[in-house]
Amino acid sequence: MTSPLLGLLTLLLLQPLDLFAWQDYKDYKVYELKFQRVEDLKLIRKWSKENPLWDFIGPNRNETTIKVMIPPEEVNGLVETLSIYHIEHEVITEDLSPLVHSQRAENLKKKLLNPLPQIDVLAAFYTHSEINDYLDSLPERFPKRVQVKHFGWSYERRPLKVLTITNGDGKRNKPVILIDGTVHAREWISPSMALYIIQQLLDNYAENQELLEDYDWVIMPVVNADGYEYTHTDYRYWRKTRRPTSNPECVGTDINRNFDYEWGHDEGSSSDPCEDNYRGERPFDQPESQVLRDVMLHYNGRLNFYLSLHSYGNLLLLPWGYTSDFPDHYQDMMSVADAGAKAIVHSTNGIYSYGSTYYVLYPTSGDSADFALGVVNATVAMTMEMPAAGFLGFDPWVSQIERLVTESWVGVRAMAAEVIRRYPA
Ligand SMILES: *[C@@H]1O[C@H](CO)[C@@H](O)[C@H](O)[C@H]1NC(C)=O
Ligand SMILES: *[C@@H]1O[C@H](CO)[C@@H](O)[C@H](O)[C@H]1NC(C)=O
Ligand SMILES: [Zn+2]
Repeated sequence: MTSPLLGLLTLLLLQPLDLFAWQDYKDYKVYELKFQRVEDLKLIRKWSKENPLWDFIGPNRNETTIKVMIPPEEVNGLVETLSIYHIEHEVITEDLSPLVHSQRAENLKKKLLNPLPQIDVLAAFYTHSEINDYLDSLPERFPKRVQVKHFGWSYERRPLKVLTITNGDGKRNKPVILIDGTVHAREWISPSMALYIIQQLLDNYAENQELLEDYDWVIMPVVNADGYEYTHTDYRYWRKTRRPTSNPECVGTDINRNFDYEWGHDEGSSSDPCEDNYRGERPFDQPESQVLRDVMLHYNGRLNFYLSLHSYGNLLLLPWGYTSDFPDHYQDMMSVADAGAKAIVHSTNGIYSYGSTYYVLYPTSGDSADFALGVVNATVAMTMEMPAAGFLGFDPWVSQIERLVTESWVGVRAMAAEVIRRYPA
């Protein structure tokens, strides 16, 4: 037997099968581009449309750099294009794979230390099915205080679950604080934050009981279940859903552009299935956005605070995303954001910007917070962009989880307290 074949056979025997699906980003490079003018940014947007494999990350408003992650076979094309247009650039990693490998190894190793379904939020990142098992384990531990509701299925038929947390006093129809996570698959700190909030309200009840006195909390840690599983099994930096589109080359829709309130504006979403902010063929053509819609509508009339957890940017984003106009009660929502930002700066010096999505981040159309305010009449609707961490911002190390979630909890707690104070039951 020739040795390459022997090598291959050994590989086949030794490797768990999922490694064949798993993209390790070998020789993927990351460039940072500096642009000077709005025209440069327009060019970058055009390249992004023309080259689905060039994964541009950013920029948020007022930033003058943007990162692009790119597979090895695309590098020459990118560099040539940048040179032709005199866009200043530097390569910030020649090969993403050591990072992706070591983060994966670290996470898998940490998880071996903890017997499921118990989870140690600060010690690892958990998959959708592990999170579901954990949610399902809670009613036994907190029979009077939690309820797990199964609201529907993802495209790939994963059960989408929502946890209701009360103080167990049996009072019905309290106003609700609704928190969702993992609308975007690669933003791994988001499900961790949702789980941390759950643990604060359950395991750390003594310190937080006033948050549950007149309000119930409803938490959906993973909205984009298929996309999120895919980031664990296949492709760490996936953002969208996993439903095929009209273009056989490009899978997935951006859930946060798929909601039916002012859906479909070209400034703020894309009609191109290959783009990361693809809005879908029609509003709510993704099962996951339908489920989140149904969760919101289920609490119609009681939804005092809707909070969607994303990363990254250190931003508290209010409606609207689709227009530069401001909604009614904008100043009231600003006061809530202000309470969160102030609490964070006092506790850690962490600086958050806050204001309307349109101004503070960039225009968005069909996002979930606009829907929560515009259709469901939530009293306060907000998207929280947690801090960047790791190499690309979405990829914190396990060792960074604690700092991120404890700081963010200071903000979420302060905002919840402000909502409860301003809008008593
Ligand atoms: C962006 O820059 C403008 C002009 O300098 C400033 O007024 C605005 O507050 C900045 N926005 C953010 C989110 O920093
Ligand atoms: C929200 O308020 C508007 C205006 O009062 C009303 O027409 C609409 O039915 C409300 N939405 C829901 C979901 O109740
Ligand atoms: Zn996001």
